[in-house]
Amino acid sequence: MVKKYLCFVGSFVVLWLNLVFCADILSRHEFPLPPDFVFGSGTSAYQSEGAAFEDGRTAAIWDTFAHSGKAQATGDIACDGYHKYKEDVQLMVETNLEAYRFSISWSRLIPNGRGPVNPKGLEYYNNLINELVKHGIQPHATLMHIDVPQVLEDEYGGWLSRKMVGDFTTYAEVCFREFGDRVLHWTTVNEGNIFVIGGYDTGGIPPQRCSAPFGINCSKGNSSTEPYIAAHHILLAHSSAARLYKQKYQGRQQGFVGMNVYVYWPVPCTNATEDVIAAQRTNDFLIGWFMDPLVFGDYPDIMKKNAGTRLPAFTKIESEQVKGSFDFIGVNHYSTVYIKDRSSTLKMDTRDFNADMAIELIYQQGDASTGELAVTPSGLLRLLEYFKQRYGNPPIYIHENGQRMWRNATCNDSARVKYLRGFLGSLLDAIRNGSNARGYFYWSFMDLLELLDGLESSYGLYYVDLNDKDLKRYPKLSAHWYSNFLKGKTIDGAIEVEQKINCSSTLSQSHSSQ
Ligand SMILES: *[C@@H]1O[C@H](CO)[C@@H](O)[C@H](O)[C@H]1NC(C)=O
Ligand SMILES: *[C@@H]1O[C@H](CO)[C@@H](O)[C@H](O)[C@H]1NC(C)=O
Ligand SMILES: *[C@@H]1O[C@H](CO)[C@@H](O)[C@H](O)[C@H]1NC(C)=O
Ligand SMILES: *[C@@H]1O[C@H](CO)[C@@H](O)[C@H](O)[C@H]1NC(C)=O
Ligand SMILES: *[C@@H]1O[C@H](CO)[C@@H](O)[C@H](O)[C@H]1NC(C)=O
Ligand SMILES: *[C@@H]1O[C@H](CO)[C@@H](O)[C@H](O)[C@H]1NC(C)=O
Repeated sequence: MVKKYLCFVGSFVVLWLNLVFCADILSRHEFPLPPDFVFGSGTSAYQSEGAAFEDGRTAAIWDTFAHSGKAQATGDIACDGYHKYKEDVQLMVETNLEAYRFSISWSRLIPNGRGPVNPKGLEYYNNLINELVKHGIQPHATLMHIDVPQVLEDEYGGWLSRKMVGDFTTYAEVCFREFGDRVLHWTTVNEGNIFVIGGYDTGGIPPQRCSAPFGINCSKGNSSTEPYIAAHHILLAHSSAARLYKQKYQGRQQGFVGMNVYVYWPVPCTNATEDVIAAQRTNDFLIGWFMDPLVFGDYPDIMKKNAGTRLPAFTKIESEQVKGSFDFIGVNHYSTVYIKDRSSTLKMDTRDFNADMAIELIYQQGDASTGELAVTPSGLLRLLEYFKQRYGNPPIYIHENGQRMWRNATCNDSARVKYLRGFLGSLLDAIRNGSNARGYFYWSFMDLLELLDGLESSYGLYYVDLNDKDLKRYPKLSAHWYSNFLKGKTIDGAIEVEQKINCSSTLSQSHSSQ
């Protein structure tokens, strides 16, 4: 989809930003944080639970994709978190996590999409939540992480239908009712923006819908219209579930409900006015698509202009319902990208979302030998400033931020430590400058099944040995580092572990050997 080459002009700008803004940090105690700020880490249901067809769970669209032969691996077993949750919570305790972000599998809880609740599904999530709460770890739950029940996809096309609004709200209510006495942080939908682009425009991820020439090898779909329709229904479903929570549960349960968006930080590739405008347009299309309705009640003008009638319109009532329908925003952020204007695509008679956005997005080059992504921590400061200035500084949880490495790499993941250290420094800068950030979740707690890379790459603090029938977990250097950071020890102490790290020690063993 996108060419990957280095934009030299851009990287000088970024280097300068790093020098200016990335203060070093020593420990959690240095953060002048509001008392309710949490540091945690996360996973998602399909990527970690396994037990895909056990105890009454039915397929989600991700199972169908994984079994289609086009994906590299399935989540049939994944990390076997379904059976190993106690052991995993114990690792979270050793890592000093204050919060854990996970997602609930709709098709495990309500196998037919609507109707009867699966007692085994209920039991599993109650067990997990109780185990977390017992150890003082806050559960932060996401309701939809790219795993629409296949039965609803088959029945009416999932997010393409307005029927999803009602069914999603009913599912959300089961979760609020059953778990809301202990779960105080609810995220309705994860990465709605990237999900609909991948699932309905380029077609590379489930439900794999697209149309030529914008996507390849989809058996059905319409890249010109469907991404906008699916996103519209996601916004309506979010606001419907959030309204229900606020009216019926919030007073009693005292929790919070929000939505998650994926955010690149876009830097203009050159100083040329058209590239500067293109970078702003990138934010309008990728962030504003969801944030403008949530904050102002309508889509950005540039989207209405470029997509025309393909962009659904909110009725007056819908607009009022969507506007302000959140207590916090979850942000998934990994990288800074360079943006070049490509307004030529607006001359095409048939356009998709990308042609409407009319930009060229250029990734910074990472390290192909290790799988590492380029590290530009200043992007986090920039995006938090952007949310502050454009959207009135809403409470924000950094829901995902993490460094990829090839899965076969060693547990001596000092590149991941460098990434973590850099981004936490940038977060601290943003908070010092008034950002309303409320939490940070490293992605991911352990090596997971990754949607695009299968088992080739991973982001985990813990290595999962796939050759071991018990899928034993081992702390990487990054787990030691994060644990020490959270304990308030100085970072340099943690780095000493680097000399003796390998995939065989446990976190408690290596701590006591220090
Ligand atoms: C698309 O499908 C064709 C025919 O099945 C196949 O040869 C090709 O590799 C596929 N392309 C991608 C990107 O999956
Ligand atoms: C997509 O939908 C639009 C609007 O209904 C229609 O004009 C266009 O022909 C459709 N494209 C495809 C590939 O079906
Ligand atoms: C931006 O423009 C200024 C003034 O023309 C120039 O000095 C500077 O080098 C340019 N920066 C980039 C990144 O192109
Ligand atoms: C590790 O995996 C990457 C990506 O699959 C591959 O390019 C590399 O050769 C592998 N290295 C080893 C030592 O197996
Ligand atoms: C800090 O906040 C002020 C006021 O919102 C803003 O003008 C300034 O650009 C911010 N600084 C950084 C480094 O983002
Ligand atoms: C871990 O990596 C660091 C830096 O790359 C190196 O100095 C150290 O020797 C490595 N430790 C082991 C056990 O490989």
